[in-house]
Amino acid sequence: MQIVLSQEELSEGISRLARCIRDDLGRQPVTVVGVLTGSIVLVADLIRSLDGPVRVGMVWASSYRGTATSPGRLDLRLDLLPDLTGQHVLVVDDIFDTGRTLEGLLAELHKRGAASVRSLVLLKKTGRAEVAIEPDYVGFEIPDRFVIGYGLDFDGGWRHLPYLAALDPDEIEAARCGHDLSGSVDAGRTAETP
Ligand code: IMP
Ligand code: MG
Repeated sequence: MQIVLSQEELSEGISRLARCIRDDLGRQPVTVVGVLTGSIVLVADLIRSLDGPVRVGMVWASSYRGTATSPGRLDLRLDLLPDLTGQHVLVVDDIFDTGRTLEGLLAELHKRGAASVRSLVLLKKTGRAEVAIEPDYVGFEIPDRFVIGYGLDFDGGWRHLPYLAALDPDEIEAARCGHDLSGSVDAGRTAETP
């Protein structure tokens, strides 16, 4: 696997995103709505970088199944959401790939009486979008490769890596067959700051 974003780069990206949000919202309270499960690490870091009042709610979304690396049907569970009436909502997801997760989620959140609804993703894959919407805040643009770590998983594993790494197709195949990939880290870089 190849490192795409180091811990330091991720940390600088989160600080930059937090500054952009406060530039737009000032000291107004923000209700961060994290998308389980991939956003857990991002939400934990982002809310600690956001000066000023913050509330946190979570929703669950999934479009991947097991070892598949292409999206399937979108499942949304919104029952953990707090009351959003009058709130400045910031939806936070790990990655914008086809954009279908964020599109489906924003359509639901717009029905909840929020004062405003913005969206933030840590990563956006180049050339993959299948929807007309764009996230309001993007941490990093990355090439179209399957990535893991910093919350993102392959088949439920790897979310705990403190950096972001890309898996090659042969590694995805090997992981499917149950091999341990943890020894094969390469420090090449492929991400850009937008
Ligand atoms: P979208 O609906 O196609 O934009 O997909 C967004 C969701 O797919 C993300 O929230 C992730 O859970 C998952 N996803 C997309 N690309 C990757 C990847 O490269 N690694 C891990 N998960 C991914
Ligand atoms: Mg997700």
